[in-house]
Amino acid sequence: MRRPLVMGNWKMHGSRASVRQLLTEIVRGVGASPAEVVVCPAYVHLQQAFALCADSAVGVGAQDCSHMAAGAFTGEISAEMLQDIGCRWVILGHSERRQYHGESDDLVAAKLAAALQAGLLPVVCVGETQEEREAGEAEYVVTRQLRGALAGQAALKQVVIAYEPVWAIGTGLTATPGEAQGMHVFIREQLAEIAGADPAAMRVLYGGSVRAANAAELFGQPDIDGGLVGGASLDADEFRNIVAAAGARQ
Ligand code: 13P
Repeated sequence: MRRPLVMGNWKMHGSRASVRQLLTEIVRGVGASPAEVVVCPAYVHLQQAFALCADSAVGVGAQDCSHMAAGAFTGEISAEMLQDIGCRWVILGHSERRQYHGESDDLVAAKLAAALQAGLLPVVCVGETQEEREAGEAEYVVTRQLRGALAGQAALKQVVIAYEPVWAIGTGLTATPGEAQGMHVFIREQLAEIAGADPAAMRVLYGGSVRAANAAELFGQPDIDGGLVGGASLDADEFRNIVAAAGARQ
């Protein structure tokens, strides 16, 4: 049985004061949920987040890492640095990194290798844009992204996949539970084909305008193992209710 997982991607939000308040409420609110809970603040708030989550079941992750191990790469943060400060998780290949920072499938693959090498638990994001969806290319794009990131990688059991259709991110639009379930089944088929992974052992999350109001229906689908939550993870009550919906998953 795959344990449900809810991750909050805080993106470029927060201050020391808001991180303290939000995490204090989240730690109190989610308690000992059957779902695994992880928050991913900005790099500069990671240490503060570790301290606030220290005696709780809430894990902490980063939103990205470098593909390089060390060296003259100004502004970059390596997977080993994250591991060294106590970070367990890292989000890779988020569509905002692909869109605004030109991250290619090859770069995501190199970041994945670096993260696995450092012993981090990577969450690899895939998903099609509105134009790709309208052109009937959603499955093609997702396959290309999975193949690009995962081909040749061993140890995939540690890897989480997040299906985040770009058109659903921050828009209030979500894939219907049926649409998302269909893509999750497709992703599992691809995981087996591309990487020889045991797809039943890997967690596949849905992301894109997940809210307390739609979480139960999404997480009620047999192949949706939880969510990668953006905006709603900045509201402690919303996030707590999303975690509760994941915890109630059978
Ligand atoms: P929203 O939940 O704000 O749509 O963002 C989703 C996302 O990008 C999570 O990584």
